[in-house]
Amino acid sequence: MKVISVVGARPNLMKIAPLARVMGKKHGQITHLLVHTGQHYDHDLSATFFKELEIPEPDVNLGVGSGSHAEQTGKIMIEFEKVILQYKPDLIIVVGDVNSTIACSLVASKLGIKVAHVEAGLRSFDRTMPEEINRILTDAISDLLFTTEEIANKNLRREGIPEEKIFFVGNVMIDTVIHCLEKIENVALPFDDLKENDYAVITLHRPSNVDNPEVLRNILSAFHSISKKLKLVIALHPRTMKNVKAFGFEDRLSQISHNAIITGPLGYLEMLRLNRSARMVITDSGGLQEETTYLGIPCITMRENTERPSTIQIGTNVLVGNDPDRLFYYFEKFMSNNFKKGQIPPLWDGKAAERIVEIILQ
Ligand code: UD1
Repeated sequence: MKVISVVGARPNLMKIAPLARVMGKKHGQITHLLVHTGQHYDHDLSATFFKELEIPEPDVNLGVGSGSHAEQTGKIMIEFEKVILQYKPDLIIVVGDVNSTIACSLVASKLGIKVAHVEAGLRSFDRTMPEEINRILTDAISDLLFTTEEIANKNLRREGIPEEKIFFVGNVMIDTVIHCLEKIENVALPFDDLKENDYAVITLHRPSNVDNPEVLRNILSAFHSISKKLKLVIALHPRTMKNVKAFGFEDRLSQISHNAIITGPLGYLEMLRLNRSARMVITDSGGLQEETTYLGIPCITMRENTERPSTIQIGTNVLVGNDPDRLFYYFEKFMSNNFKKGQIPPLWDGKAAERIVEIILQ
């Protein structure tokens, strides 16, 4: 069986890593080719993760880079079609909800190649998010839909996806957390001036939080207030850094830095090490909502909705949007030891990739 799997952006890499590892062991049964679309190209957003997560070098890099949604998606489609025609795979695997995910599924399905979508069925019900459009469309044209939580199965059924295409397998991202926790067991915190359980980790990159000057200004002021009570480690995506400079907010960032470490994107192992010993996490990332739930670390998510509701219903996550008052409310609750406790959702057990590969082989 010839399988092409696709990665494009940073959050794809921790999802593909366990699948590549398991498929590697099925040598003889599966010939696996890895295609990188080049949606993310910075070392910190791509190469670092390949190395740390031991993902094999991509067999093909489409090198598409940044652009508007139409430009990026269109370029990926044109280049990926050539790859499909050359390699003639039996199946492609796409993960998550980024532009690379929809672009490659669309190309494959029109050429009659089967598509497996890992992390299918998640819905924020917010169509202003580009990821929501990518999820709905990818699921509509996929042949095998692998889900991480029970509600995703319900969402797919409601959209008319036949039962026999849906497989509840667990969470490949948690496979990677479990695999890497061993690696960092005896590793020191990545910054000298941090103490165990005495800091919060913050990441921020969603357009809804960082593309509007007013919104970003309010968020930075809120972080400044919080930094007076708890040490912060703030890891900023290039999109956020670019906007901080464009809006002239460097001073606001340096105000916070009296009690914060402010850095660019961190490597996977550094981030996991930080999260493991963090008192709490404040984020707008999809992945971190799930990782904190698995680790049992309180998570305040700066979004109005989440496509990963089990992190709220079962895990440690709460939603505050970009409203500083709601952020302070939960922060105070946390500081006074009144934050909710969570549990680990079903099948987040480190074996999702094995289940997926078994099903693909059948
Ligand atoms: C993409 C995903 C988002 C995911 C995020 C994780 C889509 C629609 N969005 O958002 O779901 O949460 O990745 O990181 O696919 N840039 C760089 N270096 C890079 C890549 C991008 O500096 O290697 C900058 C460029 O200015 C670029 C901007 O970031 O224009 C946005 O990149 P893009 O890939 O379009 O979206 P992300 O915001 O990264």
